[in-house]
Amino acid sequence: MNRISLILCLVTLVFVSMSLGQSVINVVPKPNSIIPEPGSFPLSRSTGMNLQGSLKSLGLYLTEQLKEFTRLDLSRTAANNHNVITVAVDTDLADPNVEAYRLDVHRTAIRLRARTEIGLFRGVQTLLQLIPLPDSAKTGIFHIPCCRIVDRPRFRWRGLNLDCVRHFMTKDFVKRYIDLLAYYKFNIFHWHLTDDQGWRIEIKKYPKLTQVGAWRKEADGTIYGGYYTQEDIKEIVNYAKTRYITVVPEIEMPGHCEASLASYPENASIDGPFNVGIRWGVYKDIYCPGKEETFAFLENVLREVMDLFPSRFIHIGGDEVPKDEWKGNALCQKLMRQEGLKNEEELQSYFIRRIQEFLRSHGREIAGWDEILEGNGPDSGAVVESWRGVDGAIQAVKAGLNTIVSPGDFTYLSQDAERLSIDTVYAFDPMPHGFGPDEQKRVLGTEASMWSENAPQPAVDSKMFPRLLALAEDAWTLPARKNLTDFHNRLVYQYDRLAYLGVDYGLEKKAIVFDTKFDRSKRQFIVSLTPTQSGIQVLYTIGDTLTLGNSRLYEGPVSINGPSTLITQAVMKRRLVGNPITLSFITDDALNAPITVTEPYSPKYSAGGIGALVDGIRGTMNFRDGLWQGYQGIDIDATVDLGKEKSVSEIGTGFYQESGSWIFMPDSVQYFVSTDGEHFEEAGVIRNDVPEEDPDAIKKDFVLRFDKRKARYVRIVANNIGVCPPWHPGAGGKAWLFIDEIFAN
Ligand code: ACM
Repeated sequence: MNRISLILCLVTLVFVSMSLGQSVINVVPKPNSIIPEPGSFPLSRSTGMNLQGSLKSLGLYLTEQLKEFTRLDLSRTAANNHNVITVAVDTDLADPNVEAYRLDVHRTAIRLRARTEIGLFRGVQTLLQLIPLPDSAKTGIFHIPCCRIVDRPRFRWRGLNLDCVRHFMTKDFVKRYIDLLAYYKFNIFHWHLTDDQGWRIEIKKYPKLTQVGAWRKEADGTIYGGYYTQEDIKEIVNYAKTRYITVVPEIEMPGHCEASLASYPENASIDGPFNVGIRWGVYKDIYCPGKEETFAFLENVLREVMDLFPSRFIHIGGDEVPKDEWKGNALCQKLMRQEGLKNEEELQSYFIRRIQEFLRSHGREIAGWDEILEGNGPDSGAVVESWRGVDGAIQAVKAGLNTIVSPGDFTYLSQDAERLSIDTVYAFDPMPHGFGPDEQKRVLGTEASMWSENAPQPAVDSKMFPRLLALAEDAWTLPARKNLTDFHNRLVYQYDRLAYLGVDYGLEKKAIVFDTKFDRSKRQFIVSLTPTQSGIQVLYTIGDTLTLGNSRLYEGPVSINGPSTLITQAVMKRRLVGNPITLSFITDDALNAPITVTEPYSPKYSAGGIGALVDGIRGTMNFRDGLWQGYQGIDIDATVDLGKEKSVSEIGTGFYQESGSWIFMPDSVQYFVSTDGEHFEEAGVIRNDVPEEDPDAIKKDFVLRFDKRKARYVRIVANNIGVCPPWHPGAGGKAWLFIDEIFAN
């Protein structure tokens, strides 16, 4: 083969693979049936649009979207059946689901059909995702891959809960999110509008709710806040309606209401005054059901809420209600006696049921977090949103209620991607195991939650994306159609879409995976760093802090000679992302020595085996880094064989505490030496001086120094505190003891 034909051959190969690449259908959420066909439909200036029947607003939406995306104006009606997009309501379609659609892309025509405009709208999103990005169609022709798609959602509730309280989000930002939700076929926008730290919805009858309740005075004296006028809300609700998204407002009660009580303290269960909250977490101050005026207030609020939101469901929160103030309130206690309520949990259900009754008398129904099951639970018809795992969903369904399954461990995308990876979100199945067909019908679907304590508006995109795409697929696509590898392949393509849509997406998961080895012959540590997703690069420094300016781009395994510290962090879109990882290396007499323990570590935190304790690599500030070894409820009794008799004057051990994760420092550590491995002499004891109550993550080395002694064996006994202390939320539960290293010199 001569040079020219070789080049031609390569060029052809590139073109063929490019066009094959284009014909791959990268839609998210994955449609439930796709038959790819050869060829493509050339969308161009001469393509006609044929909207059948009275598809005014949908037709307008489609032409607008196409114009914005392709710069092609297809508003004219098609003259013939060639090179045309036909959109039609077709009541003959077999699938009765209101969101079902059929999309047929042939070489000469595209046909989108559905029984309803809602179905057509969902199908339009598929069509939009099939159109290649503008920069790949420089000729003005957009090749849409031929295929036949028959699609319908798995669940009818596919939502996002956006907390616009902890941080206020502008009206335009909310509308932008409604567009993004529509693009990924969500149909519910759950709008968290009231909480301890703010009241964000104008209520005409109670102006102080926004005059007072919408503003908080931060610790530094600055005023933070904002609210939506009723006009803003109407605009957003109407905007969502044109995207076939229902806005479900959340008005929190009987707890999470400090901002409301700051405005109208007379509704509280203790005497005021109250301030709009400035710390996160749960507040003790709650509405008082012992006063009729409280219900009158809430009903008046809900009247205005119902006027603004046509949604059948009004979310009333109901979560995290400490009952102490009801216990101490004479009116609440009197009401409990009158109504025969045995405890404050029953008072909670009394409260919820009264509100439910009120909403039902206006043709509405409550949705609430799973705490609405407390006491006697709600009346039939309520929807229970299970966030503390799936138990709430199971309990709700057993009680004949409908449920939204949104366990925080899988759907709270406000959590760091390093904690909740996209793969975990993707693995989530909203349908609890073991439900029969009738029970399954009670599972309406699922929602993502974006709690905004740690996310002012500019940070929301990077939390929500790309993980929201995984949840979109959990909610839409049948489990048999889901595949993680296939999802990741489509995700690569979706990144270009997200960038085009101006989404400042963040991480999928922990950005960097590290691996360390010790080369015995060279006495070097070898560090390998691997980025976990496309579009990120790995930076590192040795022995220095890491910034964009002073770091090196990782290009291959790094050798470390002797004690040193390597810091690594990922960079994406020219910004440092994710948490830095600090790897510290030590070389001591125990390095890589044989080691035994009398009782084994927990397989949950194995650190790769017992050798981790003498591998010379120190644990990071993240106890899940794979370098820390965990012992649950037991002591650590470990013996290291230094190989031959040495002169030892220092033995050290590294421990970790994070009391919120039930991990505590040892009570004390005893150190022993031996020349024969049988007879051990105590070299000393170190007692812990780190307070158990300290809420921070703490790393501490317990290092014993003593006069030189001959030793071949060193032994440490670290005494676990046993159980979580009485003040701790896990009081009496087995405490964890975490160790990363034993060293001797
Ligand atoms: C919740 O996260 N408190 C519903």
